[in-house]
Amino acid sequence: MKINTKLLHDYPVVDSSTGASSIPKYQSSTFGQKELYGQPQKYLYTRFGNPTVDALEKGFCSLENSEYALAYSSGMAAIANVLMLLNAGDHIIAPIEVYGGTCQFATEILPKYKISVSFVDMSDLKDIEANIHSNTKLIYIETPSNPLLKVCDIQKIVELAHKNNILTVTDNTFMTALYQQPLAMGSDIVLESVTKFVNGHSDVVAGLVATNQSSLADKLRLLQKNFGAILGVEDAWLVLRGMKTMGLRMEKAVENAQKIAEYLSSNPKIKHVYYPGLEKHPNAVIHARQASNGGAVLSFEVYDKETLKKLTQRIKLPILAVSLGGVESILSHPATMSHACLTPEERQKQGVTDELLRLSCGIENVEDLLEDFEQALH
Ligand SMILES: Cc1ncc(COP(=O)(O)O)c(C=O)c1O
Repeated sequence: MKINTKLLHDYPVVDSSTGASSIPKYQSSTFGQKELYGQPQKYLYTRFGNPTVDALEKGFCSLENSEYALAYSSGMAAIANVLMLLNAGDHIIAPIEVYGGTCQFATEILPKYKISVSFVDMSDLKDIEANIHSNTKLIYIETPSNPLLKVCDIQKIVELAHKNNILTVTDNTFMTALYQQPLAMGSDIVLESVTKFVNGHSDVVAGLVATNQSSLADKLRLLQKNFGAILGVEDAWLVLRGMKTMGLRMEKAVENAQKIAEYLSSNPKIKHVYYPGLEKHPNAVIHARQASNGGAVLSFEVYDKETLKKLTQRIKLPILAVSLGGVESILSHPATMSHACLTPEERQKQGVTDELLRLSCGIENVEDLLEDFEQALH
C-alpha cells in the first residue's frame, strides 16, 4: 500500500463499535468494570490506555512502519522519556546543533541523574568515535538539524553505535517518516514532534516515539505511565484528523521550500541559505541518499540587523512565530525563539547568529510567497 492510502486506511479509521467514520473522542478518564476478579478489560484508566489514543498509536505504527508507537503530550515529553531510559553513570553523545529544548534537557536535567553528555559534530564520524567511552549508552541523531539543516549520515552512525553496543535515537521531526525512515536504516528508536508536520495545523502540541523492539517499547510504556506523559484525548483526535492529509500537505510544502530556497540563493540581500535540497549544501549527497527530498524547512542569513528588522516588519504572509510544520508558512528567529534557552556562547558555538531566520513553508501558492519575499527584501 502506498503512503497516502496507508494514511487513510491502514489503521483503525472507522470505529469498530458504531461504524463512525471518524474515531470518536473517548473523552473518559475511567472505564466501568463489569465485575471484580472478572476477565481482564482492555481499558481501565486513560493514563494506561484509551481507544482514541490507541487508534492514533496504530496510525503512528503505520506511518513509521514500526511494530510499536507511543503518543506523548509533546515532542519534548517524547524526548525526555526516551532519555530517561538511561541510568545514573551513563553518557550520551548528541549533536552540537541539537534542538534547543533537547540541549537544555541534556545540560540542565540529565546531570541531576548523573547522566553526562558530549556534544559533537555529527557529520564527522571521527569526532563521534573520539567521544565514545565505556559508559556511552546512547547516540542522539537529528538530521537535518534545527535550525541550520546540518546533515549527518544515519546509517554510518548507527553502524558505529551498534559496533560499540550503543543505542541510537533519531529525531525525525523535520523530514518525518514520509521522506526519511531511520528505523529502516537501523536506528533503534525514532521520535518526532507531532506538533509539526504530522498534525500540521498549528493547533496541537504532541510527540511520538516508534521502535521495532518490544523490550524498548515496554520500558517506554512504563516510563510514560509513571511520568504521566500521555497525549490527551482531544489532541489525539485532532492528530488523527491532521495525519490523513499529511502526504498531500507535505508534498506542496516541500515543493514551495525548494522554490523559495532557490530564489533566496540568488538574491544578493541574502548572505547564506541552508537547505539540504540545494546542490551546494555541503552534505547534499548524503541527504539525497537517506531522504527523498529537501523537506519543507529552510534557514537563511541576512547580512545585518537592519535588513533582518526590515524583512520581518514588511513580510505579510508567513506568521512570525515559533514552530514549524503548519499549513501556513511560519518565519522564526531562532536566536530569540527556539534557541533562546541557550546562552549566547552556546548559540555562537552552534552557528545560530542573530541574523539567521528559519522558514517553515506552508501550502500557499508559491507565487504569492515569492512576491511577498521580493517586496519585503526590496
Ligand atoms: C527538531 C525538534 N525536535 C523536538 C521539538 C520539540 O517538540 P515540541 O515542541 O512538540 O515539544 C522541536 C520543537 O520545535 C523540534 O524542532
